[in-house]
Amino acid sequence: MTMKSKIAEQVKIASGTEFSLGEIESWIEKPKFSTMGDYAFPCFRLAKEFRKAPHLLAGEIAQAFTLKEIVRTEAAGGYVNFYLDLPLYSAKVLKDVLSKGADYGRQDLGKGKAITMDLSSPNIAKPFSMGHLRSTVIGNALANVTEKLGYNVIRINHIGDWGTQFGKLITAYKIWGSEEKVKKSPIPELHKLYVHFHEQAENNPSLEDEAREWFKRLEDGDKEAVTLWQWFREVSLEAFSEVYKKLDISFDSYNGEAFYNDKMDDVIAVLEDEGLLEESEGARVVRLDEEGLPPCLIQKRDGATLYATRDLAAAFYRKREYSFEKSLYVVGNEQSLHFKQLKAVLKKLNIAWAEDLVHISFGMMLKDGKKMSTRKGKIVLLEEVLEQSMALAEEAIKEKNPNLKEKQQVAHAVGIGAVMFHDLKVFRQNDVHFELKDMLRFEGETGPYVQYAHARACSILRKAEAEEEASTSETVAPAAFGEAERAIVMKISAYDEVIQEAFAEWDPSKIAKYAIDLAQLFNQYYAHTHILNEEDKDVKGQRLLLLKATTIVLKESLRLLGIKAPEEM
Ligand code: ARG
Repeated sequence: MTMKSKIAEQVKIASGTEFSLGEIESWIEKPKFSTMGDYAFPCFRLAKEFRKAPHLLAGEIAQAFTLKEIVRTEAAGGYVNFYLDLPLYSAKVLKDVLSKGADYGRQDLGKGKAITMDLSSPNIAKPFSMGHLRSTVIGNALANVTEKLGYNVIRINHIGDWGTQFGKLITAYKIWGSEEKVKKSPIPELHKLYVHFHEQAENNPSLEDEAREWFKRLEDGDKEAVTLWQWFREVSLEAFSEVYKKLDISFDSYNGEAFYNDKMDDVIAVLEDEGLLEESEGARVVRLDEEGLPPCLIQKRDGATLYATRDLAAAFYRKREYSFEKSLYVVGNEQSLHFKQLKAVLKKLNIAWAEDLVHISFGMMLKDGKKMSTRKGKIVLLEEVLEQSMALAEEAIKEKNPNLKEKQQVAHAVGIGAVMFHDLKVFRQNDVHFELKDMLRFEGETGPYVQYAHARACSILRKAEAEEEASTSETVAPAAFGEAERAIVMKISAYDEVIQEAFAEWDPSKIAKYAIDLAQLFNQYYAHTHILNEEDKDVKGQRLLLLKATTIVLKESLRLLGIKAPEEM
């Protein structure tokens, strides 16, 4: 139970209010300065409820309040300010962190419940784009946060492996392709063929007919078409898995669009039974006029199904298979309409769980103010970007710490972590400006900054251990703790609240900001407080315990973001 919820409970008892615990808790503030209390409760809403003056009500609540961890309450200007018993509270928080380790902050809110997370989901035979990187990184962080709250999270990579584009690809491959070249560098080669097809088709429309023909054959299970498609798929997935390996991200399911091929008839039958399908220029659509949306295209004139049809089938399948409480789709802003239509169609079918589908949308990755795109010749190969980031990290590390042993490994953690952190530290709806130099700085709001703070704290702890004191001290109430320690203790104790907020708003930037704050507090502390050369053994021991707890929470925050925390840098 968090301190805030304990206070909320007491406020409810002390005042007898009708407001819910959740509401009361949401009003509790954390004053910036401890001179105004560690927590404060504004009494204005309750004052209205009881038709009392806020300052009088504040006085009454302050009077009636009893909580072990709170040494003093005071009423001030319509607020009740709560002062923690710092030594007692610090001891409790540190004990909690040190005994739980990486499990600190774990909650059971989601026990026995499942959430599906549709993330990454690149299209085969196409380069892994920056948009897919964003989806992968944001989705993975949200999945980690959700798991931390006790949910069973199913990470689904809804691979784009079906659609008329494969007719085009097969056509192009048959005319211009070379097996050798595709084997050598699959995705760039297949992508080239695809682009070439479009260039040629402009002057030669019969190519489009041929492509339609090939796609039809593919749908009918023609051996040659299927074999080629399978091969394209396989080599693409191999290439993607290199990216996932670098990012150290894995999935529970690779059921992509093609997986739903044999589940389409059911969807169409249901829509038909409900009388929702209408003819429109030979195609079949679900009209969504009342919802203020354009019609959702379900089946083309030639019988072929579409992206939306496959997503409908996937939604039903996931509900059946995982009986999710929420079904999340981490996909860029540009698909908002698609997901609105998807939900609208389900609602027309009177599906109660339609509301549980959530589109977690995000902004673009920009380079020099423009979208980093994979179109035409301008391919930004994600792997190259990641390699570059690791190389820059290695340079920086060599300069900073030439004697470091596992340089490559650390450079990997820092290089990849920098890219991920840079993506995650801003609210996902905002665009991200891609600038490797910025993200790799060891100062400011970067991944390396947080990692470095963690490594630094680890190094102090190592030295202390070498001096054979310290870490043995018991977590007795640390009487020596003052304002500097208080700030760190309060930050550490807010960890579970931050996880809840990140979850409630599907916003991993909350965790990233938290990690920066904690790293900053630690750096300030370290700059102004003696630790290793503190003479008083007890005081030194308590400070080291605080450091130990800080490393645990920093490392765990980074882990939630999908980022490694090397112990030496
Ligand atoms: N493959 C799609 C794309 O790259 C993203 C798929 C997202 N997931 C979904 N269930 N529609 O645009």
